[in-house]
Amino acid sequence: MNILVLGSGGREHTFAYKIAQSELCSTLFVAPGNAGTANIATNVPISVTDFSAIKSLVVKENIKMVVVGPEDPLVQGISDYFAKDDQLKNVVVIGPSKEGAQLEGSKEYAKEFLFRHNIPTAAYQSFTAATVDDGKQFLETLNAPYVLKADGLAAGKGVLILQDIEEAKSELENMLTNKKFGAASEKVVIEEFLDGIELSVFVLTDGKNYVTLPTAKDYKRIGEGDTGLNTGGMGAISPVPFADEVFMRKIEEQIVKPTVEGLIQENIDYKGFIFIGLIKVGDDPKVIEYNVRMGDPETEAVLPRVKTDLVTLFQHVGDQSLDKVDLEIDQRSATTVMTVSGGYPEAYEKGKEITGIDSISDAIVFHAGTKLEGDKVVTNGGRVIAITSFDEDFKKALKNSYENIEKLHFDKMYYRKDLGFDL
Ligand code: AMP
Ligand code: GLY
Repeated sequence: MNILVLGSGGREHTFAYKIAQSELCSTLFVAPGNAGTANIATNVPISVTDFSAIKSLVVKENIKMVVVGPEDPLVQGISDYFAKDDQLKNVVVIGPSKEGAQLEGSKEYAKEFLFRHNIPTAAYQSFTAATVDDGKQFLETLNAPYVLKADGLAAGKGVLILQDIEEAKSELENMLTNKKFGAASEKVVIEEFLDGIELSVFVLTDGKNYVTLPTAKDYKRIGEGDTGLNTGGMGAISPVPFADEVFMRKIEEQIVKPTVEGLIQENIDYKGFIFIGLIKVGDDPKVIEYNVRMGDPETEAVLPRVKTDLVTLFQHVGDQSLDKVDLEIDQRSATTVMTVSGGYPEAYEKGKEITGIDSISDAIVFHAGTKLEGDKVVTNGGRVIAITSFDEDFKKALKNSYENIEKLHFDKMYYRKDLGFDL
């Protein structure tokens, strides 16, 4: 079977790495891909949201399965585009319908879904420019810190957590009236602050059944000790040591099952990943957010632990027969450490030559922002390369990732040396 992966980050290199190992995969394409995917697949320079170019590629290359990495094409309706097209309707698309993707595309939609299905989450209210004064009054009823969320997609930057009530009011005004995050902040969700430690759970559903993949914890801030600006993610650890059996049972019963059953009840077509961001408050899990795709860099730690053939798993999603699957998981810990360009997540330079990749042998190298320039690999983004290692516990695995990063070089390379500090 010919397969296409959409995207160009470490997550997509990891998908490609797993898919390329499957005997069921004949030719693998990645659009647009990076220097890492170029080694194991055919990169095609197409944007992930150019649906007509994607259609041409799928038809021309007789592609039977499309794995959608990022959220943008899902929120724009790529699954519906395939389902409605006579030439594409039999292609298995891993990723939900446009309606299902609203779980990530609109914070308000997600909160309403959570409340309809009695899934534990923070109390909230949402506001528009017309109700900005009500929003300010609502803030007065809460205690600091104040959580303001742009309703729409804002590239991971749309959440503000503020200590000061006056600042919270003026940021609310900025978001609603001055469109601080463009159309994404035409609506703002104000939420109760939840105090606890975060973790993520990944579910793959065929719309009827589901399997729960390993948990992971990512490190979003640029600076050590979780300080400084938010990034896409500086590394991840899987499994999360504090997610013991009792806690996982709560997650399954109170969150995962009602989520999948809620989608079924509401006739929402959903074949793909659900990435549930959780916070452990006391002994209980609460949902912070849904994403309708895998996480990056969580994928680089989670998927290498999945021993079950990934293409087989995706075929079961297509046939709605995930109930026939016994997921096999590597019981060791996996860690991934992201190297980034100096300056990221603010301005940074691209085009720096990366050396030392070939000297890494006992860890897995997943490319993120890289590209080929002649026979050189150069940086092409903020997050550049993730190094994944396995060991019996996360500390040993991390040590191995860090030792291997020492072999890697590019101008102004930076990475966090303190992953797992909070565990
Ligand atoms: P989100 O985009 O909704 O995941 O929010 C981004 C980050 O903001 C989360 O990963 C949390 O660290 C933090 N956050 C979001 N909502 C809350 C909340 N209600 N209480 C505390 N922290 C939150
Ligand atoms: N690492 C967080 C995300 O993928 O959204």
